[in-house]
Amino acid sequence: MKGFRHKDLLGMGQLSVEDIELVLDTAESLKEISQREIKKVPTLRGKSVVNFFYEPSTRTRTSFEMAAKRLSADTVSLSATGSSMVKGETLIDTARNLQAMSPDLIVLRHSSSGAPHLLAREVKAGIINAGDGINEHPTQALLDLYTIRERMGKIKGLKTAIIGDIEHSRVARSNIIGLTKMGAEVTISGPPTMIPLRADSLGVKVVYDPAEAVRDKDVIMVLRIQLERQSKILFPSVREYSACFGITKEILKRAREDAIIMHPGPINRGVELASDVADGPHSVILDQVANGVAVRMALLYLLIGGSRSDDID
Ligand code: CP
Repeated sequence: MKGFRHKDLLGMGQLSVEDIELVLDTAESLKEISQREIKKVPTLRGKSVVNFFYEPSTRTRTSFEMAAKRLSADTVSLSATGSSMVKGETLIDTARNLQAMSPDLIVLRHSSSGAPHLLAREVKAGIINAGDGINEHPTQALLDLYTIRERMGKIKGLKTAIIGDIEHSRVARSNIIGLTKMGAEVTISGPPTMIPLRADSLGVKVVYDPAEAVRDKDVIMVLRIQLERQSKILFPSVREYSACFGITKEILKRAREDAIIMHPGPINRGVELASDVADGPHSVILDQVANGVAVRMALLYLLIGGSRSDDID
């Protein structure tokens, strides 16, 4: 088996095309475990994974927990409010104390960009970035790439549009890196206040009008409006955002007939995405969630159990 020579997964920039293909191929071979009656294999028996979520999460946290359990790793979950960080313990001291208990891997979600990078320098355990501030969310991008490849049969050459609050979105940043690396064309769209100033340097096209941005696209990725990350109001009102940038059935007609609609969740229904599109035939939103378990199983396997490929069966 080809090697995955990384201690940590901190961002999409560290992964080569071959690394990404290895993650997606490994996820493909592990996905069927979740369809079995007994959804468990012994691959990571004796390994321990700490899920440390300093910010709220439904999908990422649950799917890491399920992924680890399906591979027989022991898991411990820690949240900010349930940890001694509420008593003033620093992130580094928390990490050093976790390290003293010899976990193999720490999955960290944190509100500060760069927090997983800091931990990776401090502890021997592998670190997976489960979303850091407005920086990156690499496991989301990998499950998105997996879903695109599964649905469209390829990634290279596809025309994709990412619509919404690009500036504050770690999902957008990781997907832009991943999609361009894998040879897809990326167009970004949203209010000018939510488009990064030097967007051209990211290797993407900027089209402010979403109805134009989706024209002839294969993949449309809609982002959540993240009011909690904005230090100032970047658009007049939620109603105006929805009227100008919300993706509706009407707008979707301009995309390719077989286009897929993606959203990382949680969805603000009726704001960035109309409910009938979120639940409609083009939507692969719940496939993304299902694939998240397989992709996270693959990452756990490659980071802490990669030499034992014979144990997968
Ligand atoms: N996509 C995503 O990260 O969702 P959660 O915040 O629920 O984990």
